[in-house]
Amino acid sequence: MEDIHSESYVKGLFNEMSQTYGIVNILSSLGFAYLWRKQAVQSIPSQCSRICDLMTGGAECLSHIKNRFGSKCEVHLVDWCENMCKRADSTVKRHSHGNCTVINSSALSLPAEDQRYDAVVSTFGLKTLAPKEIEELAKEIKRVLKPGGSVSMLEFSMPQNRFIRFFFHIYVKIYVPLLGWAFLGNPDNYRMLWRYTKEFQSCERAFKAFRKEGFEIDLKTRFFGSATQIVGYAQQGARYNSGRCAASIVSA
Ligand SMILES: C[S@@+](CC[C@H](N)C(=O)[O-])C[C@H]1O[C@@H](n2cnc3c(N)ncnc32)[C@H](O)[C@@H]1O
Repeated sequence: MEDIHSESYVKGLFNEMSQTYGIVNILSSLGFAYLWRKQAVQSIPSQCSRICDLMTGGAECLSHIKNRFGSKCEVHLVDWCENMCKRADSTVKRHSHGNCTVINSSALSLPAEDQRYDAVVSTFGLKTLAPKEIEELAKEIKRVLKPGGSVSMLEFSMPQNRFIRFFFHIYVKIYVPLLGWAFLGNPDNYRMLWRYTKEFQSCERAFKAFRKEGFEIDLKTRFFGSATQIVGYAQQGARYNSGRCAASIVSA
C-alpha cells in the first residue's frame, strides 16, 4: 500500500496541484484561508528582522508578512516541491520583495545555521507530515529559532461540533474535489487533502511535540475548530548547536 506521508508521494501531489492550488484555495476556502493566514502572521511579534515561512507553497503568506514586518525584514520561503518553489518565486517577483529568498528544502532539515530566525510561521503544511515527522519538525524549529523566537503554525482541522463537522465533511469531501475537477480535471488530488485532514485531526499533536521541546505554547481554535493553530515562543536561554548548515537556494 502507498505511504501517503512519503516524500515522493507528497512532492508528487503538490507538484501536480501547483498550477491550480492558488485559485482552488481561494475559491474553496471562501476567504477563510486568507483570514487565517493573516491571523497566523499577526500572532508573531512585530519586531522581527528574520522570518522563515515553512512549507510556503506558492508563498501565500508573503503579502501578510510584508504588511506586518515591512520589506526590510529578511524572509526565507521554504518548500521541498519544485513547482511550488517556482510559484513562490513568481509571488516574490510580483510583490517585489527584495529581501526574500525561496529555498527548495525539506522543512525537517533546513539549510540554516542554528538560531538564525526571529520567527517561524507555517500555514496548511502540517497535515501531510507523519506523527514522527511532527516531532522532528519541532526539534528543527527549535534549532533554527533564536532563544525567545516565535512560532506560529496553523492547519485545517476536524471540528468537534457534529453539526459543523457535517458541513465541513461535505465541504472538504465534495466541494473541494469538485473545484479540483473543474480546474485540474482531477478531483483525486484534492480528495487527498480531506484524507490528510481526517488523519491529522488537529494541531494537538504538534502542541505536545513543541511543548516537549520546551516551547511556551498555546493551542488556539478557529471557526469552531475548522482550523487550529499553535502559537508561542522558544524559551529564553534555550541553547542548541548542531553545527549544521548547508544551502540549496532556488532563487534570490
Ligand atoms: C497545502 S500547501 C500549503 C501552502 C501554503 N503555506 C498555504 O498557506 O497555502 C503545503 C505545502 O507544504 C509543502 N511540504 C509538505 N511537506 C513538506 C516538507 N517536509 N518539507 C518542505 N515542504 C513541505 C508542500 O510541498 C506544499 O507546497
